[in-house]
Amino acid sequence: MGIEDANVAGFVHGGTVMKLCDEAAALAAVRHSGHGAVTGGVDRMTFLERVEIGDLVTFRATVNAAWRTSMEVGVRVEAERPGTGVVRHTSSAYITMVAIDADGRPTPVPPLLAEAPDELRREREAQTRRDNRLAEREQLRESERTRLSG
Ligand SMILES: CC(C)(COP(=O)(O)OP(=O)(O)OC[C@H]1O[C@@H](n2cnc3c(N)ncnc32)[C@H](O)[C@@H]1OP(=O)(O)O)[C@@H](O)C(=O)NCCC(=O)NCCS
Repeated sequence: MGIEDANVAGFVHGGTVMKLCDEAAALAAVRHSGHGAVTGGVDRMTFLERVEIGDLVTFRATVNAAWRTSMEVGVRVEAERPGTGVVRHTSSAYITMVAIDADGRPTPVPPLLAEAPDELRREREAQTRRDNRLAEREQLRESERTRLSG
């Protein structure tokens, strides 16, 4: 991370980390689906520790779950201070990517073959986040319907 990525206090902007998470997630989605992918939504972005100028930052993106045309990609961000060997887990992100065809329309993705215990756990947790997101959307719609009907 260079000075152009940071604020005057020497800490890297959250937005810089988010942008790189988004790019890593898109690449994982493209690899899994074999199609282009767009960001459908960011389900969670957590900043655990600050990243500083000079840190070497690594973004590891994994497709956690695949549905009809969308996938949840988890991104783990680690910062290493060169020369010290110290690596810190600084952020985690959960991003929904949607596969698109040549016309930009959502297109089906292959199923995910989760087998290892960690893969199965990540898939279950992704399903919970999706269920919660859809339930919240339905709850907000219902409360708006109730408000409008007096
Ligand atoms: C994301 C997008 C392709 C969805 O298109 P759409 O016409 O709403 O398509 P659908 O309703 O068929 O939804 C397609 C999938 O997207 C998912 N999706 C749509 N909106 C979403 C949201 N806000 N968050 C998470 N997932 C979403 C749906 O759940 C569905 O997934 P599924 O097929 O696995 O069940 C469209 O809204 C779009 O192009 N948005 C702009 C994307 C963008 O510019 N991103 C930033 C730059 S990459």
